[in-house]
Amino acid sequence: MTASGADAAGPLATRVATLRAREAAGGRVRVQGWLKTARHGKEVSFLDVSDGSSLAGLQVVVARERESANPEFQTELQALRTGCAVDVVGELVESPAAGQRFEIHAERVTLIGPVGDDYPLQKKRHSFEYLRTLGHLRLRSNTLGAVLRVRDAAARAIRRFFEERDFLELHAPVVTTLDAEGAGSQFRVTTLDPAAPPRAADGAVDWSQDFFGKPAYLSVSGQLEAEIAALAASRVYTFGPTFRAENSNTSRHLAEFWMVEPEAAFLDLEGDATLAEDFIRQVVRELLERCPEDLAFFDERIEKGLLAALAHVAETPFERMTYTDAVARLEQSGRSFEFPVTWGVDLQSEHERWLSEEHVRRPLIVTDYPRDVKAFYMYLNDDERTVRAMDVLVPRVGEIVGGSQREHRADRLERRMRDAGLDPAPYGWYLELRRHGGVPHAGFGLGFERLIQFVTGMANIRDVIPFPRTPGSAEF
Ligand code: 4AD
Ligand code: MG
Repeated sequence: MTASGADAAGPLATRVATLRAREAAGGRVRVQGWLKTARHGKEVSFLDVSDGSSLAGLQVVVARERESANPEFQTELQALRTGCAVDVVGELVESPAAGQRFEIHAERVTLIGPVGDDYPLQKKRHSFEYLRTLGHLRLRSNTLGAVLRVRDAAARAIRRFFEERDFLELHAPVVTTLDAEGAGSQFRVTTLDPAAPPRAADGAVDWSQDFFGKPAYLSVSGQLEAEIAALAASRVYTFGPTFRAENSNTSRHLAEFWMVEPEAAFLDLEGDATLAEDFIRQVVRELLERCPEDLAFFDERIEKGLLAALAHVAETPFERMTYTDAVARLEQSGRSFEFPVTWGVDLQSEHERWLSEEHVRRPLIVTDYPRDVKAFYMYLNDDERTVRAMDVLVPRVGEIVGGSQREHRADRLERRMRDAGLDPAPYGWYLELRRHGGVPHAGFGLGFERLIQFVTGMANIRDVIPFPRTPGSAEF
């Protein structure tokens, strides 16, 4: 064992996950990572090395006789403790221990990064509240590590799904001068001096002197830009961060979250709902295939029955019903909800969860919502009361997808804007897109973190994103 990190930054070591997936033992290997645990016996030390590539680490066995020639050995060995970083070279052999196929018989263990006595992540289970106070270290915990891997696998599965269906990935802007949802919960982007902004004659802030020459915001949705692109490239999707300045301190709202937004020309609401269903089921199926170890961990530690529930989602068609039908069932449920239900109100989380979790017991697509609870751009049905909207509701999480067929009839769109109190002037281009080669088109937005909550069973959305932004909290 050597204490210096002399050649520790040489050629890349093999990832623990790659070694654990090997067909057979044998050969000299090198791993680099952090110790989950270290047990020092009389004859041998056992180190559990993790590099974040898989839930389980790799056991490293350090036999003392090999090291007895080194006089500093005893002190250095004691420095190998939970949390320290090491570089290990040794032989990959079959392990006699239960629960693991291979282990490394160390030839050399180099301590790269020692750990202080106050290292806060010990082997015991910590609460998620406590881990949130350790944002810089919590990704080394089993649960957050598993979340990171599942996020990565889900992002890959999402891109694969759209690639297979010839959707182009569109890079929508993060800074926008639109309010895509017409809901006004936007963060402003400005370079004006907050203490002394330029003012117009009437005393109001003169935004024409701001960086972009007009008010600018962080995007709440890439949809409107995706519509522009879909009316040129037929099928596109965005996958990026979106921002909402809603003061919602709940277990399913973030101020910054990732959204996947496909948009397709020549698509109606039924096709849109089918696309959303195929999408969610394929992503779940792929995650079951590609993340069996992590999902089994979530099943055991976080949400009992998770694996069976996900398999059911992958295999079973989603239920579909109209909003009107959903409201009737809620009214007949005999439940006393905190927010009473009548036709015309927006569905609350408790209603969404009752419908999918208890009533149909699987994902459910609710369509044709009242026009007054949805955004201005949705296609107005002939009844003039409802719009071609759809939400996908799933057990435990509630709304995971929101989408619609878009209003492509310029006259009706303009009327809806005025009814919603929006000035159509800045949306001239949006109306023009309808007048020049406009076609029926539709799309949806999937909340990526809500998908991750759904597939991991994690209760709080703050624990499925590495760096959560919520009212009053933005670390790093
Ligand atoms: O239903 P929403 O607001 O729909 C849109 O933004 C449309 N422009 C999408 C489209 O048609 N292209 O948001 C879509 C999804 C929600 O279903 C939810 O999963 C997620 O985004 N979402 C949030 N996730 C975390 N924190 C928040 N504050 C969220 N707001 C919405
Ligand atoms: Mg919605």
